[in-house]
Amino acid sequence: MKITNVFFGEKKPKVDLLVAGCFQGEKSPPAELVFVDGFAYETAKQAIQKGRFSGKDGEVFSTFGEGLKEANEFVLLGLGKREDWKRERLRQKIATLPGLAKSRNAASIRLVVETFVVKPIRTEEAAELIPETLELAEYQFGKYQSKAKDDAKPELRSADLLYSKRVRKPLVEQALKRAGIISDAVVFTRNLINEPANIMPPRVMAERARQVARDGKLRCEVLGPGEIKRKKMGGIIAVSQGSNEPPQLVVLEYGASYRNRGTICLVGKGVTFDTGGISIKPSKDMEKMKYDMSGAAAVMGTMKAVSRFKPKLHIVGIAPCVENMPSGRAQRPGDIIKMFNGKSVEVINTDAEGRLILGDALAYTARFKPKAVIDLATLTGACVVALGDKAIGLMGTDPALIRKVRDAGEAAGERCWELPLWEEYREQIKGHHSDILNVGTGGGGTITAGMFLKEFVPVKSWAHLDIAGTAWVDSDKPYRARGATGIGVRLLLELLRRW
Ligand code: BES
Ligand code: MN
Ligand code: ZN
Repeated sequence: MKITNVFFGEKKPKVDLLVAGCFQGEKSPPAELVFVDGFAYETAKQAIQKGRFSGKDGEVFSTFGEGLKEANEFVLLGLGKREDWKRERLRQKIATLPGLAKSRNAASIRLVVETFVVKPIRTEEAAELIPETLELAEYQFGKYQSKAKDDAKPELRSADLLYSKRVRKPLVEQALKRAGIISDAVVFTRNLINEPANIMPPRVMAERARQVARDGKLRCEVLGPGEIKRKKMGGIIAVSQGSNEPPQLVVLEYGASYRNRGTICLVGKGVTFDTGGISIKPSKDMEKMKYDMSGAAAVMGTMKAVSRFKPKLHIVGIAPCVENMPSGRAQRPGDIIKMFNGKSVEVINTDAEGRLILGDALAYTARFKPKAVIDLATLTGACVVALGDKAIGLMGTDPALIRKVRDAGEAAGERCWELPLWEEYREQIKGHHSDILNVGTGGGGTITAGMFLKEFVPVKSWAHLDIAGTAWVDSDKPYRARGATGIGVRLLLELLRRW
């Protein structure tokens, strides 16, 4: 879809569908509409005054008519109560547009942006949020379907974002560009995740990372099985040894020259398929375990966007990629392994594999001397139970960083909910013949997983995001088609923007 900023008074071709928003209980349509299309304004005004349109959320008024000068059809969307308006409501409303356009046979739409803008949203924010959401709402992973599902109707080919002359052009142009970078990164991430595990093993993950580095002039280093063994990364070795696919530790580095301004390490779990290993998972839903590399994919997508935004920061993305399989070479429950940082772990359950590879990757961040470390992982089923697909499980060691992550998530529409990493939980993973166990006894599975990771974090400031519940949706949601959501990318980019 081609998205363009246009302005009142500019000469432009007629589109299929002109779209404006209207809050509940207004006596007349938004004033901007007068300047855009007098006929649309008058018709909408009559609809309101005759009680045919009240602006309730979800309401749609539409008109055709020779009098329309901007478009063949005009729709007015009910936005609900003005005082309830917020960024997420705007996203959800925008997310309905591709479907609306399709249902009206419209291949081109034009949006009167300022009719969607009231406190607390500013025009520049909407100017970014709207195109970003349009792109995400359009997303489909259709590459393996021989025929488009509904190809009788046209695809939405173009969207004009229409602004009044009050709005400064460079500002909205900048916003549109940002939106493009962000949505490209999310789409890239979703595509990596939605690819099945036969197409996206660790080696292909590494190949995609190299491509990101080539495109964006990042430094890329991939440690293969030899180097991983030489470095004694016992967690990565143990998890990957049951698979024919060699493990890969991906490192993408941006902005080394900004080192003196502080380094941020982003670490993502990259289990390209999680069978559970010898502690094998039940077959129900196992096919979904291709999304167990969502953390790694989010880190790679974020680095792709970082390479285009070029912030004045040193950012290192690290993704340990493995496949967790049962075989004659697989690790066994009861095996004791030695991790990269020297700690010994008794592997009680080979299905608690994410923490083993992350333990090594987190310890490996020490070489970059980071100011902050943030990891993302589809780590525990317990997190799905606790928070469902509505919130990321957030844990960490630095209250200031946690607050920053939470605020960024709130703004990006990727909300986090904090869980405690109290010392009392440490007991649950204490080892008998080893330093620690990879599974906690008792409850609080998301927290004990977090406590395990904490053992390997070499710095004070660390945040852990359990995205097991949020990285995948089982049914279509506004701007999140069934499948991978790409969660984490928008949160991290918002966090880096505010850093
Ligand atoms: N990848 C899973 C966690 C998961 C479960 C993600 C469901 C998404 C949906 C992880 O490797 C795992 O298997 N965790 C185990 C840990 C347990 C053995 C302590 C779990 O949560 O069941
Ligand atoms: Mn597992
Ligand atoms: Zn897993």
